[in-house]
Amino acid sequence: MFNIQLNFSHKISIIKYEKFFRIKGVAMALIEWSEKYSVGNKQIDDQHKNWIKIYNTAHEKMISSDETLFRSAGADALQEMKAYAEYHFAFEENLMETMAFDELDSHKRFHQDFMGKIEKIIWDISAGTHVLNSEIIKTIENWLMHHILKEDQKIKPFIKTK
Ligand SMILES: [Fe+2]
Ligand SMILES: [Fe+2]
Repeated sequence: MFNIQLNFSHKISIIKYEKFFRIKGVAMALIEWSEKYSVGNKQIDDQHKNWIKIYNTAHEKMISSDETLFRSAGADALQEMKAYAEYHFAFEENLMETMAFDELDSHKRFHQDFMGKIEKIIWDISAGTHVLNSEIIKTIENWLMHHILKEDQKIKPFIKTK
C-alpha cells in the first residue's frame, strides 16, 4: 500500500525502534535490594540477593547491543536459575523444617513447580523450540515478585520468635 523510500538514517531509526520494543518486551527495570525484602535471616537474604543478581545480569544481557550476549542471555539465565534453585530450595526447606514452619508442604510444592517450569523450558530449548528472552525474564521476575516477596516472607515471624 505504501511505498516509502527510506534513507540510511531512517533505517537506523527503525532498527533502534525495533530494538526498543524488543527491550520493552523483555525487560522492566533493574531491581535493587531493599530491606523490605528481608525475611530476617541473613543467609536466605543473601541467597535472594543472588536471585536479583541473576535477574539483573539477564536483564543487562538482554538489552545489550552485543548480539552474542543477547542470544546467550536466556540460556545462561536458565542454567544459573536451575543451579541456584537446587541449592537455595534445599537450604530454605531445611531451615523451615528446623523452625517448624506450618506451610512447609505447600511451600515445597511451590519450589517443585518452579523447578519443573525451569526444567521444561531448558528441555524445550534443547529440543529446538525457540523460547523468547521475554518469557525467560518474565519467569525470573514472577518468581521474585510472587514467591520471594510474598511466600518466603511468611517465615519472618517464625525467625523472629526463635
Ligand atoms: Fe527463597
Ligand atoms: Fe521459597
